[in-house]
Amino acid sequence: MSTSQTLAMAAKTRELKAEGKDIIGLSLGEPDFNTPDFIKEAAIQAINDNYNSYTPVDGYVELKDAIIHKFKRDNGLTYDRSQVVVSTGAKQSLANVAMVMLNPGDEVILPCPYWVSYAEIVKLAEGVPVEVPTSVESDFKMTPQQLEAAITPKTRMLWYSSPSNPSGMVYSRDELRALADVLVKHPDIIVVSDEIYEHINFVGEHASMAQFEDMYDRVVTVNGVSKAFAMTGWRIGYIGAPAEIARACNKMQGQITSGANCIAQRAVITALEAPVSKIQYMIDRFKSRRKLIIDLMSEIPGFAITEPEGAFYVFPDVSYFFGKTINGYEIKDATDFSMFLLEKALVATVTGDAFGSPNCIRFSYAASETEIEEAMKRIKNALSE
Ligand SMILES: Cc1ncc(COP(=O)(O)O)c(C=O)c1O
Repeated sequence: MSTSQTLAMAAKTRELKAEGKDIIGLSLGEPDFNTPDFIKEAAIQAINDNYNSYTPVDGYVELKDAIIHKFKRDNGLTYDRSQVVVSTGAKQSLANVAMVMLNPGDEVILPCPYWVSYAEIVKLAEGVPVEVPTSVESDFKMTPQQLEAAITPKTRMLWYSSPSNPSGMVYSRDELRALADVLVKHPDIIVVSDEIYEHINFVGEHASMAQFEDMYDRVVTVNGVSKAFAMTGWRIGYIGAPAEIARACNKMQGQITSGANCIAQRAVITALEAPVSKIQYMIDRFKSRRKLIIDLMSEIPGFAITEPEGAFYVFPDVSYFFGKTINGYEIKDATDFSMFLLEKALVATVTGDAFGSPNCIRFSYAASETEIEEAMKRIKNALSE
């Protein structure tokens, strides 16, 4: 496994903060909201009701039923209890799937940019990540032709997130259908559709690969509560999958972590049973912050932006700056540029290298309006010098 590319950045951020520097953090992939009160109250109730024992490995039946209901209500997907596994975050859901599906040398297609952990989880399971590059010009979307060209006899899976971390790209139903048309010709390929940002979508209806009848039997739909419900630390994620894959994930998890935290599971029953309107206020805030950061970033020369359609990230192409020296600081690549922003503008971002897209950097706008405004001002100033 490679060491996390964000570690050097995090170490530098700590060092500057220790020196008393006022760093604006736009690097974190988590909402800056508190978990909604109605969910917190459900957790307190669960503690008082003495939920303290091991849970079933694949989750409480009531939670699985709430997930089944959610899949039906929001996605039109029908799963039964044998197809649902609750895990310690969507990250564990993904790791389970990789461990049970991959034999050494099996290839997993990852459209770039992808979420940092995909490639490392695949490698841990002795699979081989196959990167398919996309760019700001193609709105960070993989085309059916690119998918077809990446498929080999060793291809076992395709993994993607829509809405995407880090690009904010959202595949429309038609775009997913076009990818599905390639996949139907290759029936052994399993699709992992990571839909954790489902509700943070500014373009309209969310589409799921499993909604296509001819794909349903080979799609693992991954979701969780970390992002839309502001519950990153509660660590609950889940899958809806073909029953044999769910059974294998259950078996794997049973030997590694057992069931997810009991209190968090009880709270998530309440979270998922609530109408989505209960969390709409956070989505609305993300939407207005998206406009703010895009408007301000568009005024900075050298940033090439695709307007993100979901999640809470902007992923500008900053290759314009490569090979230039700014204020005595030599910028060779996105990592240098990200470090420059940290040291000279005191704004923390993440280099696109971490996501397989070396021309870009990631800004998270899960931050206050004041922080976003100040960060963009500082960047503009630092670059104009
Ligand atoms: C695309 C994507 N998938 C999965 C996860 C992991 O989510 P969880 O907190 O449920 O493990 C993240 C978190 O950053 C993510 O961005």
